[in-house]
Amino acid sequence: MGKKQYERPIINKQYSGFMNKFGNATVSQPKTEIENIPVKDLVAQYGSPLFVMSERVMRENQRNVARIFRTRYPKVQFAWSYKTNYMNAVCSVFHQEGSWAEVVSEFEYDRARRLGVQGEHIIFNGPDKSTEGLERAIREKAKIHIDHYDELYELIEITERLGLTAQVAIRVNYDVGVYPKWDRFGFNYENGEAREALKRIVVNKKLKLVGLHSHIGTYMMSPEPYRIAMTKMVALANWLKSQHHVHLEYLDAGGGLPSHNTLKGQYLQAEEALPALDQYADAITGPLFELESYGDSMPTLILESGRALIDNAGFLISTISALKRLSDGKRAYIIDAGINLLFTSFWYKHKLVPAQATGVIKENASVFGPLCMNIDCIHEDISLPAMKKGEHVVLFNVGAYTMTQWMQFITLRPSVVMIMEKGGVEVIRKGESLDYVMQLEQTPDSLKKFSLV
Ligand SMILES: Cc1ncc(COP(=O)(O)O)c(C=O)c1O
Repeated sequence: MGKKQYERPIINKQYSGFMNKFGNATVSQPKTEIENIPVKDLVAQYGSPLFVMSERVMRENQRNVARIFRTRYPKVQFAWSYKTNYMNAVCSVFHQEGSWAEVVSEFEYDRARRLGVQGEHIIFNGPDKSTEGLERAIREKAKIHIDHYDELYELIEITERLGLTAQVAIRVNYDVGVYPKWDRFGFNYENGEAREALKRIVVNKKLKLVGLHSHIGTYMMSPEPYRIAMTKMVALANWLKSQHHVHLEYLDAGGGLPSHNTLKGQYLQAEEALPALDQYADAITGPLFELESYGDSMPTLILESGRALIDNAGFLISTISALKRLSDGKRAYIIDAGINLLFTSFWYKHKLVPAQATGVIKENASVFGPLCMNIDCIHEDISLPAMKKGEHVVLFNVGAYTMTQWMQFITLRPSVVMIMEKGGVEVIRKGESLDYVMQLEQTPDSLKKFSLV
């Protein structure tokens, strides 16, 4: 056994009179390996910071959620939410698992097509679709989810002009008891707007109404709003059936299932605070059995789940660049990954642990990123054992909305690797270089030279 490392004693300020309802801070084990690969080897080979994705975990998540829903309702189709993570390798994993693509821009639409997804397997959401984008989606028979009247009227014009039929659904928003209401996307249910839009669609010969869509919010902490939304969606479907003889192909419940990240201000850890996905599945599928006159050809339930399928498949390895004391004596760490890579740390308390064995004494610390910006704070207050410059930390649950929302700001974006299910590590996005970042810039001739004295 090696010699035990000396740990300098520290003095922790105690606030008398305040009970600590949490008891002693739980000890987080260091994360020295990801999928049996030592963190230090990953850093040695691919650099730091480094995003690491696990193919195995993504597939397991997808299969598990599919199982949970399919045991409750037999016709379920997933559509991978591109904005959650549109790295090609990641999308391919979900497409190999049978998921369609759910896109919210032409950029995402083009990515899906280039990856080989057929138009009929693309769900085209979003409030800002251009004329060209709509034309392409109509030609390729993508499922266009109409967000507002201007889009509906434009679709009517385009289909008329092209002499083609569009496959459409409308996005519906509802009062689901969560406030402020998410009513900026789609047509409102309660004020009758959704029914009016549907009436305009069903009388149009060139618009084929194939489904209804809703996405009631993200990181929904309770299943009940889904039950309310799906009950209202089923009421719309029943009305369409009885009044307009429309037999819908699908009902799309959107995404929003929570991941295991803990929100800022959330009292308990996400794992303890959130209901099981089974409860969400009950809430979403239960109302579907109230569909009338569908007989054996029940509509498909589409799910556009993003974060719940991928957050825990992503890790971010980072290196400690410096330690310092703030003016009040509080410990601060500077690490080489900041809000430029973890936009999500504005609302999540990402789990962060050392990547090597440490002592047992913990101290509250702030963890700052590398940016020379005051906002670059990953954790304002986190209890950590002592670590040294050059050691590594691992951040958990970073698979969703990081590699799509990251910023090329002040510094370059790092490599992303995937640990493959069959073994081995593959780079799925190379770290950026100065040449890559500057390739689109053009400097006028008159600005190409200067001399400084
Ligand atoms: C229309 C739509 N579907 C699906 C998603 C995925 O949501 P989540 O990652 O919360 O499951 C989003 C994300 O905001 C969305 O806007």
